[in-house]
Amino acid sequence: MANQDYSLSRGTETNRDAYARVPPAEETPAGAWPPFCCPVHPRTALAASAGSDDGLSCSRCRAVYPVWGGTPRLAPDLNWQNNGLRAEAEHWDREASDYEARRADDGRYMAGVEAAVRSLGAGPGDAVLDAGCGNGLTARRLIARGCRVTALDLSAESLAYLRGRAAGGPLRVVQGDVTSLPFADGAFDRVLCANTLQHIPGDGARRLCVRELARVLRPGGRLVVTAQQYSVPRRWAGWVKEGPTGNRVRYIYRMSRGEFRRLMEWPPAAARVRGAGFPLPYRCKVGGASKRAERVLQQTGFVTAMADLLIGTVRLPDDQRRTSRS
Ligand SMILES: C[S@@+](CC[C@H](N)C(=O)[O-])C[C@H]1O[C@@H](n2cnc3c(N)ncnc32)[C@H](O)[C@@H]1O
Ligand SMILES: [Zn+2]
Repeated sequence: MANQDYSLSRGTETNRDAYARVPPAEETPAGAWPPFCCPVHPRTALAASAGSDDGLSCSRCRAVYPVWGGTPRLAPDLNWQNNGLRAEAEHWDREASDYEARRADDGRYMAGVEAAVRSLGAGPGDAVLDAGCGNGLTARRLIARGCRVTALDLSAESLAYLRGRAAGGPLRVVQGDVTSLPFADGAFDRVLCANTLQHIPGDGARRLCVRELARVLRPGGRLVVTAQQYSVPRRWAGWVKEGPTGNRVRYIYRMSRGEFRRLMEWPPAAARVRGAGFPLPYRCKVGGASKRAERVLQQTGFVTAMADLLIGTVRLPDDQRRTSRS
């Protein structure tokens, strides 16, 4: 049973209103939106909870997941109680209101955001999952490209911020955990997870996260993951590899290129890893030409070692399915 006392999921609408905008699987036009599934039993699509108008239920385990303020909360209760997800959600809830403004001034971060969206290669009508979407820096760019975006995050406040700024766009938000995604195998054409993997504590959980991202990708689809690198400049600057950071972040794990590559290739897949977020120094910027130069530079090993972000791309062959959960 989902935890009803979760105080962060504040909503002003009634659950009935909210539910009206989150149609259950059987009312969704075929191919329009991948149905929500039980995060514990991702092969089971959720349905309107019998005898209740305020949730989605799993016919297999009988769990009822609430829909609050238009946002289904599809995280297995156990995780929220036991493994620090709640503290993580509370942290990002507090950050939600000024996150975007602070990021906008960070040229390297924004270069990484642009590179992530570009690498995904998503186009009009594609069903895209933005996992760990935060305030929607990437989600809104994908909507602008005509994609149908399902945006998932732990933080209800970040999701509310995103919804407020993408009104009318093909967007659906869901509160959930990237290590147990509430979607069926192969549900999405494209999957993006930007700047979130580094906040997942523990190698095992990070592996689980990548495995889940790949699981919900259709054969022939593309997955892009970006993560902070423990880069040469960061080491010189004395930044921590693991732990809390000086600028309010609860937990970060900065990966070496080799660590990231091993994660992206597990289970084995054709992954490509390169640096992102290494824009030319501001004084060298000359319009479109410098953007092209940055793209070329980002193919090189030197720039990858200096880049703030690592960007990994997995392209699933047309005939390949990824590890399934029951
Ligand atoms: C640095 S922000 C990145 C947000 C956005 N993708 C971007 O690039 O601006 C990290 C986000 O990861 C989310 N997050 C952390 N752990 C998560 C988990 N286990 N499941 C879902 N989201 C998570 C946080 O709530 C936060 O919004
Ligand atoms: Zn279930």
